[in-house]
Formats: sequence, C-alpha cells, structure tokens
Amino acid sequence: MPTLVIVGAQWGDEAKGKLVDVLGSKADLVVRYSGGNNAGHTVIVGGQEFRFHLIPAGILHPAVTAVLGSGMVVCPKGLLEEYDRTRELRPDLGRLAVSKAAHVVFPYHRTLDALEEQAKGDNKVGTTSRGIGPAYQDKASRIGIRMGEFVEPRVFRERLREVLEYKNRLLSLLGGEPMDFEALHDEYAAYAERIRPWVAETDVLVQEAVASGKRVLFEGAQGSMLDLDCGTYPFVTSSHPVAGGACLGTGIGPRAIDGVVGVCKAYTTRVGSGPFPTELLDETGDWIRTKGHEFGTTTGRGRRCGWLDLVVLRHSARVNSLTGLVVTRLDVLSGLERLLVCTSYRLDGEQIVHVPSNTFELAAVEPVYESLPGWDGDLRSCRRWDDLPRTARDYLRFLEEFTSVPIAAVSVGPDREETVPVRPELLWGG
Ligand code: IMP
Repeated sequence: MPTLVIVGAQWGDEAKGKLVDVLGSKADLVVRYSGGNNAGHTVIVGGQEFRFHLIPAGILHPAVTAVLGSGMVVCPKGLLEEYDRTRELRPDLGRLAVSKAAHVVFPYHRTLDALEEQAKGDNKVGTTSRGIGPAYQDKASRIGIRMGEFVEPRVFRERLREVLEYKNRLLSLLGGEPMDFEALHDEYAAYAERIRPWVAETDVLVQEAVASGKRVLFEGAQGSMLDLDCGTYPFVTSSHPVAGGACLGTGIGPRAIDGVVGVCKAYTTRVGSGPFPTELLDETGDWIRTKGHEFGTTTGRGRRCGWLDLVVLRHSARVNSLTGLVVTRLDVLSGLERLLVCTSYRLDGEQIVHVPSNTFELAAVEPVYESLPGWDGDLRSCRRWDDLPRTARDYLRFLEEFTSVPIAAVSVGPDREETVPVRPELLWGG
C-alpha cells in the first residue's frame, strides 16, 4: 500500500496529527490536498509540541518532502510564520513544495469572511475567520490569484490591481473598509519573494512519486462531515476533505490510491454551527469537553461534545471507501458507567439508517441509541489489544461491526507511544 489517504471521519479535530506524524516518518512525500490554515494539527515529538495549520506535519522528518497541493488555499503570511516557528524548534526540516495552482489567501478574504458571517446573523456557519470560504469563492468565480502568478512580480501586480478593484467595491457594499493597493501589494510582494523557491509543479512531483512506487501520504484536513458535498451543507467548509479530494487537490486519479484510513474519536465533537444529533448539552458533555481538553487548536473555541454517532461513521466509511479506522481518545471515556452509541435516527416517526442530506432534516432527527457498558482506569499505559479493558474492546468491536471497517489502531493518549496497534498492515506496518 504505497499510497495512503488519511481522512477525518467526523467533523474534524479527530486527532489526525499524531497519525500523520507517525506515518509521515515512513513516507517519501506528505501531501495536503484541501483547506488552508483553518486546520490545526498538533504533534508532540519528544515532549515538544508543534502546531501546524498549513504545512504537512511530515516536514518534521528531514527525508520527507512536504507538499501543499493544488486543492489548497494558502495564506502567505501564515505559511511563513509557521515555517519560521517550526524551523526555530527544529532546524533540520524536510523539503517544502507549494503548488503553483494553489490559491492565495489575502486580507480581503479574511475581512469578507467576517462580513459575510455577520450578514448571515443566526444562520452563520461559525467559520474559523481565516478567509477560507471567500478564497474558494474566488477560485470558483475564476478570479482567484494562484501561487504561480503570485510569485511572478509583474503578473502579481497586474492581477492584484484588477482583483482588488472589484474586492474593494464588494467590501464597501458589505460595510467594510476598502484596502490600499500599494500597501497590500508591497507587503505581499515581500512574502512572495520568500515563498518563490518553494513554488513548483507539485502535481508532477506527486504523479512521479506515485508512478515510481514511493510512499505517499495524503494528509486530510477537517473532516468528512465538513465536506462541501458530502457534509452537513451549508454548515461545512468550502473544500473537499473526503478522500476524493486527494485526487482533485493533488493531480492524481482514484486508482492511484491504495488505502484510505479514517480517523475518528471514540465520541463525537464539532465546532461551529450546524446539526449534531448526538450532542450532549448536559454535564456529561461538559465532562467530556473538560477531560478531553476539547478546545480548538486554531480558534481556541470550546468544542461541542456528544456520543459516538455510528450513522455518521458509516456514512464516512462509504463516502471515503475506508480501508481502516483509527479510533482516538478512547482514554477520555474511562470512568463513565454506560456509553451510548447512536445506531439509527428517528425522523417524523420513521426509523432511518442514513444521514439525511437536507440539513433541516438532520436537525430534526432524534438519535436512537444502544447502551454499552463503560470501563474504568487509565488506558494511557495500554500498548496491546489485550491490555484494554474487556468492555472497551467490546465497544471497539461494536464500532467495527457496525461500520464494516477494520480498526487499524487505537490511540490512548497524545504521545506517539500511547497507541495500541491492531492491524499494523493497514498502516504501513505500524
Ligand atoms: P471555514 O473552514 O473556516 O470556512 O469554517 C467552516 C466550518 O468548518 C466551521 O464550522 C468551522 O468550525 C469548521 N472547521 C474548519 N476547519 C476545521 C478544523 O480543522 N476542525 C474542525 N472544524 C473546522
């Protein structure tokens, strides 16, 4: 399985960072394919914490090439800050390559993100305010500025002049301040100077790596339920976090993907607005949030917490063609006498076993639960399947049978070592 895609199987924040780091150490190329600095991956190596928003965590390994793929939207300032911060902590980083076709995020995207959210009032999406939606809007409207243009001084100046004129009209219309062309140009032209050496035809790089049998890891950001098409529209991000996004956002076809690993928490969380059938608005929800430190890496916002939703997980298994699951944060659930898992929904008096695509329907469903026995004790020292309490193993088997996806590994703590391998062959051996 030389090519693997890692996807979030829920609403993002599934603790993918650790897996990406472990697998990244075995990869030749680690490629991000969607989103921008709305993502947040925390990786702890040797007690040192690294936070990534744009750069694939694989860059921590000197032999790895970390690629920002064509499906991404890239904030130049954020990219440079992140690179400099990481380099200070770890001078021997891997190589960085940024797709010529990735779109550039400018300050007007961030301002428009905030203004659009304001205008939506109660229906706001609860975005990360990083300008992600407006940058993808420009891409779909065919007025976005791509990295390849950004790093060519004459082209950039021309394109920015043309786009800013239009954006300033839009900003004024929505009650914002127009931006000064020269100031914006000069600041961003300086970033472009530094970024230019990294900008490349990354599609070719990825295609050649795949063709020569190299190990390529496609690092998903956000989660499947935040996908523009497969998620809870309109409460989604503006890109394609699902495995199909790895094709669209890096220049490969579906047959180039050998395995798709879905990462899910042993419970469910979501940030921002939108339906969440198993949300716990009681003390159990607060207990999970506190015990699991469920606060956003990018925004610091408290995450909404709830029981494991297997209807969502099976949806994810199908839209991504999952070949394996990695279950994270099992340790957080220790101490609960009983655990509920959602196995179907009730909608208008009828039982349904799928995620309705209409948001107003998903908002109206009532979860139907199975109650499973909980477990006690600290799981962080468990290293083998048999070390886990019997009821925890039963919980995992239930999840596996319901989704028909084999569990590849279980994470019982933030550190690299705090992992229980189950089927290492699904994860490049471990
Ligand atoms: P945007 O991606 O900033 O436009 O936000 C759209 C929705 O996706 C909001 O509900 C965000 O909270 C959510 N979102 C975006 N990125 C992440 C992430 O990395 N983890 C979890 N939620 C995210």
